[in-house]
Amino acid sequence: MTSNPFLLDSRHGDFKKIQANRPDFDNSSSVPVTKSPNPAWKYGDGTNKKPNEGLQAIEIDPYHPDQRMISNYKLLISGIPRPISFVSTISKDGKENLAPFSYFQVVDHDPPILVIGFSARESRPKDTRKNLLETGECVVSVVTEHMIEAVNATSLDVPHGVSEWAFSGLVATSSSTVKPNRVKDAIFSMEGKLLEMKQLDYGHEGDGKPHGALAIIKVTRFWIREDALTEARDHVDLSKLRPLVQLGGISYGRVRETFELPRPRLEDEMKDESKGLRSILEGDAETQPALDPSKLPHEDLKHH
Ligand SMILES: Cc1cc2nc3c(=O)[nH]c(=O)nc-3n(C[C@H](O)[C@H](O)[C@H](O)COP(=O)(O)O)c2cc1C
Repeated sequence: MTSNPFLLDSRHGDFKKIQANRPDFDNSSSVPVTKSPNPAWKYGDGTNKKPNEGLQAIEIDPYHPDQRMISNYKLLISGIPRPISFVSTISKDGKENLAPFSYFQVVDHDPPILVIGFSARESRPKDTRKNLLETGECVVSVVTEHMIEAVNATSLDVPHGVSEWAFSGLVATSSSTVKPNRVKDAIFSMEGKLLEMKQLDYGHEGDGKPHGALAIIKVTRFWIREDALTEARDHVDLSKLRPLVQLGGISYGRVRETFELPRPRLEDEMKDESKGLRSILEGDAETQPALDPSKLPHEDLKHH
């Protein structure tokens, strides 16, 4: 057990030996589409398989004096799979930087907005966070299977000012709307400008300990590798993108199979008696106000 709460244990035994007994990475490119998990699901059915019925949830207080910060970290990263951003920035004195961050999401599309979370580091704030504050610009690439080892290498905690480009072997190319270079080898990248850097100092007020930060970034350009962009120029082909998610520990997940599920429209669902929604909503007249079909909301944003 380590006494330094910021130190993540990066020793994983003889990883070469552990990996040697595993099957090779499957490079096949097809991503089959299956049925949804339960095409027969009806309103009121709840979850699909219930083999674990009766099992209780265990309550954990993240602030309990015996609950270590590192345990909260492990719980969160193993319980929440995350897409990974690969962020290119530049400092005000022109030093280039590349690093991956999986506290990452798109949070709106009008305008396109990304968020990236920076954890506290005991020694100094992450260079990416510092550079974003200094120059306000970045290029964010979505981390995909074909670049993961190079991306992982750039997470090395090299001193500020040492560029990760050289030892990653990735190729840089210029950007259109921002100064930092773009990873030429990426399949989907976005140039962006910092809107806000929110300090996540909740609970750290005045304790002098380093705290995390949240960057809110407005996308100013999309870059999509030509074979991955559909003819209509509005869809990234999943079989070309091959995105990864970061899971718990040192695990990554792939997208190997998908299924589709049409978004329900209240008006249609109410019309189709076999779905069982009308009888549920109208069955409890005491607590449920009667629904007037003419007042049902319209589906104006089909995709969201
Ligand atoms: C796949 C992956 C995801 C990561 N996600 C994050 C993250 O979301 N937030 C964070 O602060 N550090 C994250 N890290 C660690 C940073 O990449 C690492 O601290 C890096 O040295 C920061 O680089 P910089 O100081 O050049 O910005 C991640 C590392 C890897 C390998």
